[in-house]
Amino acid sequence: MAQSDITVLALESSCDETAAAVVRGQFGPEGVLQPQGEILSNCVLSQIDLHAPYGGVVPEIAARAHISHMDRLVAQALAESGTSLRDMDAIAATSGPGLIGGVLIGQTTGKALALAADKPFIGINHLEGHALTARLTGPVAYPYLLLLVSGGHCQLLQVEGLGDYCVLGGTIDDAVGEAFDKAAKLLSLGYPGGPEIERAAKQGDKQAFALPRPLLDRAATPFDFSFSGLKTALRQQADKLAPLTDDHVADCAAAFQQAVLDCLLDRTGNAMQHVAADWQAQGRENPPCLVVAGGVAANQALRDGLETLCAAHGFSLAVPPAGLCTDNAAMIGWAAAERFAADAFTKGPLALADPARPRWPLNELSGELADSLSG
Ligand code: KG4
Ligand code: ZN
Repeated sequence: MAQSDITVLALESSCDETAAAVVRGQFGPEGVLQPQGEILSNCVLSQIDLHAPYGGVVPEIAARAHISHMDRLVAQALAESGTSLRDMDAIAATSGPGLIGGVLIGQTTGKALALAADKPFIGINHLEGHALTARLTGPVAYPYLLLLVSGGHCQLLQVEGLGDYCVLGGTIDDAVGEAFDKAAKLLSLGYPGGPEIERAAKQGDKQAFALPRPLLDRAATPFDFSFSGLKTALRQQADKLAPLTDDHVADCAAAFQQAVLDCLLDRTGNAMQHVAADWQAQGRENPPCLVVAGGVAANQALRDGLETLCAAHGFSLAVPPAGLCTDNAAMIGWAAAERFAADAFTKGPLALADPARPRWPLNELSGELADSLSG
């Protein structure tokens, strides 16, 4: 009898969250994995308190914390889901990109569990996890336009299908989450900076002073971002105002957040026009969809801005719940379920030789998928 569902245990440890989850997907009548999976458990242990005194993630501290907690989180994820290793179709872990010490811990744990339980091991690209989360949480069909906004990345991509990612543009310097974190540090707000800036911005006046919108006047790079000049402009403004009162900090946060949002919305609007024309030329029937992923997608002001933008361009908007935008293992499990269902993963002893990769751009996966399917 054909398999009706697929269950995966997944581990994530590429940055400062130690996470384990069990997810399940259902196959449709034609044996195709249906979008909108089920999260049987989703355990995330944040290391924020350990890194906050340093204003950023300290790789050595992160790796030590992952190793202390990963086995307990796996046990918890299995217990909360009411499953055991025997029930798994595959065991997955993030194989990169990320802080290498952390990646090695989750990946080695995943490989060991797979070997002991005699299950396939699937190494997942963390960015693919973010990119596909909207299909875990809702009935989102391929293709879609993706705005990936996290601590390490800021990109606009066309997601044509599993493993088929075309980068339209991206940041030429800092990632957007990194910009939020640096701005928060500069204003002596806490870590991670995104939620702190968002909170402070609510009390501030976004028009208190003018900050630049980098690249917006450059027609030659319609899908690219730049945030480092904005951060410098904020520093200069803060120096002018010093010593900073709470009101100054709130105004700085509000003006900075608005400048970032204006850049994100302008570039995303350009990308919408581009892909809508492309898809129309192909005679596609589905209404075009914008998916937003990565930790910065937790920002409510960004979500509101994107909703208005989507309405103006005739796009539907898919944003996963905030808790699944920031790092978690459920998204890694879902990406693995999609790869298992499409038979797009390395099998046998070679899977256990999967390297841990500090750098692993999403568009490199397209070539790898073609190789694995033909090989
Ligand atoms: O995706 P993620 O959890 O980790 C990476 O893969 O990078 O993203 C973390 C980033 C941090 O830079 C954090 O400041 C940012 O996401 N972030 C936010 C918000 N929540 C998290 N940025 C803006 N507004 C938020 N509410
Ligand atoms: Zn992430």
